[in-house]
Amino acid sequence: MVNRVKEVLGIEKPVIQGAMAFTSLSPLVSAVSNAGGLGVLGLGYMPKDASIAEINQTKKLTEKPFAVNAIMQEGIVEQADEVLTATKPPVVYADAMRLNGALCQKYFPRWHKLGMKIIVKASYLADAVTAEKAGADLVVVKGWEGGGHVSFESTMALVPQVVAAVNIPVVAAGGIVDGHSSAAAFALGAEGIEMGTAFLVADELPINDKAKQAIIAAGDMATAEVSYANDAPFRMIANNLSDQIKDLEATHLKAEAAQKEAGLDAKTIKMGMYQGDTQNGAIMVGQDLSLIKETKSVKQIIADVLQDTKNVLHSLENVEL
Ligand SMILES: Cc1cc2nc3c(=O)[nH]c(=O)nc-3n(C[C@H](O)[C@H](O)[C@H](O)COP(=O)(O)O)c2cc1C
Repeated sequence: MVNRVKEVLGIEKPVIQGAMAFTSLSPLVSAVSNAGGLGVLGLGYMPKDASIAEINQTKKLTEKPFAVNAIMQEGIVEQADEVLTATKPPVVYADAMRLNGALCQKYFPRWHKLGMKIIVKASYLADAVTAEKAGADLVVVKGWEGGGHVSFESTMALVPQVVAAVNIPVVAAGGIVDGHSSAAAFALGAEGIEMGTAFLVADELPINDKAKQAIIAAGDMATAEVSYANDAPFRMIANNLSDQIKDLEATHLKAEAAQKEAGLDAKTIKMGMYQGDTQNGAIMVGQDLSLIKETKSVKQIIADVLQDTKNVLHSLENVEL
């Protein structure tokens, strides 16, 4: 059976490395694309010139398809459009906490005309439907388990609902890290997987080794969801910082807490990921941590998860029902 994710994106393996703001930059992205998956630059709120430089650097490191994230929010997407028009990467990865249909209708035809494929990252069924209507080529559906900003429904609940509602290929994300979770994604109707947390321990990702070791050491129940005050909650390894944010939100009115939290993610990700301050900085991760046991090359991460997926899918043929 033809895999539409590989076909649409022109990649060899149905594996996407999710956009990770301040983290998935040219070294990781090019390694994923060179290994046959789709690397996604997480440019987040990076200034225009730095974004263009990062895309050009990625082009130097890989000739394979890669994607660039564009935050679909008024006031932010305009700069992303300028960056995309100047650089024309093979794929755009449009993300937003809530998708604005009008913005998609405005920009997707432009980006298609420039030769780019369009992935939409959806955390809600309605967003996936909006994405298809606006002409997206593929939708990544991310459940509550995943790293980064948290949505509200689990991968298990969300993926089959989206598969039933749209015709474009669906890629599942959130809590996928091994053969079992990946096989489950395909069983739910997804045609590919997206992983974020699993790639945080990749040899090619130049974050502080203390952050990688904190991920490897973490067990189950090790994450906290914080920053609900500004309606963009994110999941991180529970530590002093997550306790402080929870305390702030419990003792302040929402608007006051939101004001104090503005810009906190950018500052604390730097402390956690790059300076290795695992107690006072943020290490954004998904709930699948305890299955991550060692650092590996990107190529090995992808090869292992796909081989294990095949093994699990074959073993299911023997399940007695
Ligand atoms: C450190 C980190 C930063 C992230 N930043 C973004 C982002 O900027 N945009 C986005 O769409 N998703 C972001 N995500 C979500 C990932 O793209 C991906 O969907 C998610 O990690 C998948 O779940 P998993 O971590 O369980 O594999 C981030 C995830 C992590 C771990």
